Amino acid sequence: MQHVAIIGLGGIGRYHLSCYRKLPDIQVVAVADIRADEIKKDESLRELFVTPWKQVRWYDTCNDLLAREDVDFVDIGLPTDVHKEAAITYLNAGVPVLCEKPMALSLADCDAMIAASQQNRAALMIAQCIRFWPEYQYLKDMKTSGAAGRLLSLQMWRGGSTPGWNSSHWMMDPARSGGAILDLHIHDIDFCQYLLGLPKRVYAQGGCAKGAARGYDYVLTNLDYGDDTQVSAASHWADLPMPFIARYEARFERAFIRMDPTQSHTLAVYRSDSNDPEYPEMPGLDAYASEIAYFGACVRTKQAPERCMPLEARNSVAIIMAAKASIESSAPVPMNHYAL
Ligand SMILES: NC(=O)c1ccc[n+]([C@@H]2O[C@H](COP(=O)([O-])OP(=O)(O)OC[C@H]3O[C@@H](n4cnc5c(N)ncnc54)[C@H](O)[C@@H]3O)[C@@H](O)[C@H]2O)c1
Repeated sequence: MQHVAIIGLGGIGRYHLSCYRKLPDIQVVAVADIRADEIKKDESLRELFVTPWKQVRWYDTCNDLLAREDVDFVDIGLPTDVHKEAAITYLNAGVPVLCEKPMALSLADCDAMIAASQQNRAALMIAQCIRFWPEYQYLKDMKTSGAAGRLLSLQMWRGGSTPGWNSSHWMMDPARSGGAILDLHIHDIDFCQYLLGLPKRVYAQGGCAKGAARGYDYVLTNLDYGDDTQVSAASHWADLPMPFIARYEARFERAFIRMDPTQSHTLAVYRSDSNDPEYPEMPGLDAYASEIAYFGACVRTKQAPERCMPLEARNSVAIIMAAKASIESSAPVPMNHYAL
């Protein structure tokens, strides 16, 4: 049995807590959150823990928890501006870290996290959950197998109502969250990197519907791979009463995949050798539980988290930085200035 501490039990921390219930080999035994006293009063939390409620240990800070707990890894769901400090606190003590995306607000912070992981030989994985999402893994598998020929074109889309639910509304401050262009757009940008590697150039357009204080909240990024592969991703935070939707369309030489949860079949595949579409069934375990199980297995077996390496998470932040520079210069930006 692996013992874990959740660091930051807000929106995503709570969802992760519910995922651990599905993982019989990993148990959450402790929590660190600056709002621990307030959070503990929420009766509905009790049923999310497998550990008996009275045995769950609560701390206000990362350092308090580190001083008293000996856990197999920590699961960080803190606001993005404190990812670096928290991750390095644990990595320097040799504790493996699963940390929420985006990795950090700056490339210097990402590099400091990677250095702490390497120097202390403590595993670090950034929770780029789309890499574990079954409908996206289907696309990755089709690309890797080559069964439908070359990938010619990919359009990704993600957006919904502006997230207003976070503790202290930190997400609305781009100095803390990076705004939608970092917080939201990184999901699809990171998946493009997972699928195709680093682009040669990035050309982005976008704007700030709610003014510069909110950062870029609509963005379209074209990723140029130096050949005829056409790849783009668009993301939106809109102050509109709309549901959150993520979808993609991918064209291969001999197949077309449409992923759209608003359709009767979320995943539809059209192949050149059949007149009928396929509607593949996806496995039951959700992406977040799969991601946590994967990192737990990496820690247990002392394997690097190759499905989601920290350098790739860092380079996804680099692509976002290049996209911002492209918006600001109205010109394509070469990736070699940003990526390692
Ligand atoms: N993978 C996903 O799909 C997904 C979804 C939502 C959020 N996220 C990411 O997860 C992170 C957290 O987002 P959220 O929506 O859960 O935020 P949140 O505000 O709901 O939760 C953050 C929690 O951290 C606590 N906290 C803040 N500063 C702290 C500190 N210094 N020490 C200890 N506790 C502290 C807060 O009290 C709060 O409970 C962000 O990086 C966000 O981008 C990822």
